[in-house]
Amino acid sequence: TTRALEDRYGRVATDLRVSLTDRCNLRCNYCMPAEGLDWLPDDSVLTDDEVVRLIGIGVAHLGIQEVRFTGGEPLVRRGLLGIVERTRALGPDLELSITTNALGLARTADKLATAGLDRVNVSLDTVRAETFHTITRRDRLHDVVAGLEAARAAGLGPVKVNAVLLRGTNDDQAGELLAWCIERGYELRFIEQMPLDAQHGWSRTGMVTAEEIFERLARDFVLTPAVEPRGSAPAELFLVDGGPATVGVIASVTRPFCGDCDRVRLTADGQVRNCLFAREESDLRAALRSGAPDSEIADRWVVAMRGKRAGHGIDDPAFLQPDRPMSAIGG
Ligand code: GTP
Ligand code: 5AD
Ligand code: SF4
Repeated sequence: TTRALEDRYGRVATDLRVSLTDRCNLRCNYCMPAEGLDWLPDDSVLTDDEVVRLIGIGVAHLGIQEVRFTGGEPLVRRGLLGIVERTRALGPDLELSITTNALGLARTADKLATAGLDRVNVSLDTVRAETFHTITRRDRLHDVVAGLEAARAAGLGPVKVNAVLLRGTNDDQAGELLAWCIERGYELRFIEQMPLDAQHGWSRTGMVTAEEIFERLARDFVLTPAVEPRGSAPAELFLVDGGPATVGVIASVTRPFCGDCDRVRLTADGQVRNCLFAREESDLRAALRSGAPDSEIADRWVVAMRGKRAGHGIDDPAFLQPDRPMSAIGG
């Protein structure tokens, strides 16, 4: 039997975002400190079998139609290919994607496609080597570029690029990044920075807003709203110079899309989060490891959705950042 993962506001979650690890091989300064974080201990991270079992429950009993693998950096998860393959076997109609920094993707893109992955979204905030080093603290721009090319060649498309603009670092490069992506056929989306960094350094004035992004792009391009309905997609799409190229803006903070949210998250240590900004988690790992049957795990998952709040509450004076940073929740 299938039940819906429905919350008190009538929103139904069909998009499952699975964090496969909290670790990462970059150190983006707006995400985590140079020394990294206290990573989850190995024994609290779900095994491949456990991950696939939970996804299977979501697909078979709870109406999950899309699965996105995230991190940290999902490509550093050893069992990734097997997890993708086994997830594909759960449903030929499942939409399977990954959000990655693309390090190592040049080597694995073909295998991921063969395993049944449909699409990749790649995080890239600059196409200048120096700025890349300033942001990520690593010299790996070439690997990202090679990873993007391999993804396209493997048919893992449309390939999307996610970029966060940081005041004083890359906010003057929006047009350059867009031109670079258009030339290569990648769909660029600019993301407003959210208060989810490990250092708790986010500030409203530091954030480059969607409005500023438009102003910057308008100097070099003519943007017109794309007519296609947005649905629950976080990005608002615009045609660039009349199209067919587009650019997206994910204005999570200044124009939240929480009202249309269809997402639910599973952390690498097996906790359900009904929202990026949830204050409570529901422990499916404990249920799994105590031998609970699928029906009981599905029940817990359904209950976890009832606590989903109407919105992220960033504008609320009493807003508190969630206990875990973005890298441990999954983007
Ligand atoms: P597509 O299906 O390709 O459109 O995927 P997506 O945009 O949902 O996924 P992706 O992982 O590429 O997410 C892009 C960015 O959107 C993330 O880095 C986040 O900044 C933001 N984002 C993703 N999910 C949520 C969410 O539930 N709430 C908010 N506020 N932002 C989100
Ligand atoms: N706000 C918005 N996006 C963020 N990302 C990382 N931290 C934040 C944040 N605080 C982005 C990365 C990557 C994706 C996984 O999430 O740049 O594109
Ligand atoms: Fe890694 Fe993503 Fe954080 Fe950058 S933003 S350090 S790529 S998890």
